[in-house]
Amino acid sequence: MIISKKVEKALNEHLILEMAATYNYLSVASWCEVEGYEGSAKFFYKQSEEENTHFMKFFTYINEVGGHALVPALKKPKYSFKSIQEAVEMALAHEQKVTKAIYKIITLAKEEGDHATEDFLRFFVDEQKEEEVQFKRILDKIKLIGGGPQSLYYVDREFERLAAAATGGKKKKDKGEEN
Ligand code: FEO
Repeated sequence: MIISKKVEKALNEHLILEMAATYNYLSVASWCEVEGYEGSAKFFYKQSEEENTHFMKFFTYINEVGGHALVPALKKPKYSFKSIQEAVEMALAHEQKVTKAIYKIITLAKEEGDHATEDFLRFFVDEQKEEEVQFKRILDKIKLIGGGPQSLYYVDREFERLAAAATGGKKKKDKGEEN
């Protein structure tokens, strides 16, 4: 099966966004660690790993369907943040951008009669929905409880809980107990 040049180009362009997410979250994780937000650091390290698996799914798919996956050049990520809130806002904005980009490729795949790519992207539609909802919820909580030291302690614990839940979910997925 050979994908069209248009779809190949769109998928290659998308690699930039997935790798940028990997780098952005790695950078946020490092900043959190340095600032002493250990739970948040764990969460963003996990998010970074997950984005790297997304990148690899796109990368291997392009070659699998007869295209040529191209390793993208990236801009330097942001290294420090005014607050956790700023980092989460950046993450949510990036995920919204990724979702829009995926929807555009689905539209293109439909136009090209490319059912395989449409099918491949279905997983990412669900994944993006989960990620956007998750970041939005965290952001709402941060806004609700404010940025004082005790609030930050609570936010950090919340991130730690999410990181642990993500690990449990991944184990289930690996065992095939969950889709
Ligand atoms: Fe893989 Fe959340 O973008």
